[in-house]
Amino acid sequence: METLVKTLAELDAEAERFIGGLAPKEDGATLVTLSGDLGAGKTAFTKAVARALCVEETVNSPTFVLEKIYQLGGETPKLERLIHIDAYRLETGSELAPLGFDELMQDSGNLILLEWPEKVADALPAPAIRISFVVHPNESRTISYD
Ligand SMILES: Nc1ncnc2c1ncn2[C@@H]1O[C@H](COP(=O)(O)OP(=O)(O)OP(=O)(O)O)[C@@H](O)[C@H]1O
Ligand SMILES: [Mg+2]
Repeated sequence: METLVKTLAELDAEAERFIGGLAPKEDGATLVTLSGDLGAGKTAFTKAVARALCVEETVNSPTFVLEKIYQLGGETPKLERLIHIDAYRLETGSELAPLGFDELMQDSGNLILLEWPEKVADALPAPAIRISFVVHPNESRTISYD
């Protein structure tokens, strides 16, 4: 599935559609990878997902902290936490372990959005959904799901 998003308002609507159609996994965390160049819109999409999940905290890029965990307020019965990981600064998948990644992956209450999966591909379990972002010269984005 592929969609063209022209504005941040359209991105919010797209994130709501994505969350509305999401079937969280029952046997562990729901891992979603976000691929695309620097500035492609991976963090912007995560912020829009956080809004769709009614996260009230400000969602910032976790480039320096690597990982942020947001508690969800119960609007989405099966999901308890949104976890945003930015693997850009990691060099191998083994660097996921100190983030508690394996434990996080075992909890079906967790929705994990991971930027730069390419950096940790050697240790990453198969994601439930792969999303990729392509920026066009007019700043619109194509978002593809598979
Ligand atoms: N769909 C969109 N429509 C308009 N602007 C967007 C859209 N997506 C992202 N942007 C803008 O593009 C800029 C870069 O986006 P963002 O930080 O999400 O990129 P990123 O893919 O996370 O990059 P990085 O790999 O550096 O983390 C931001 O200022 C953001 O507001
Ligand atoms: Mg980012």
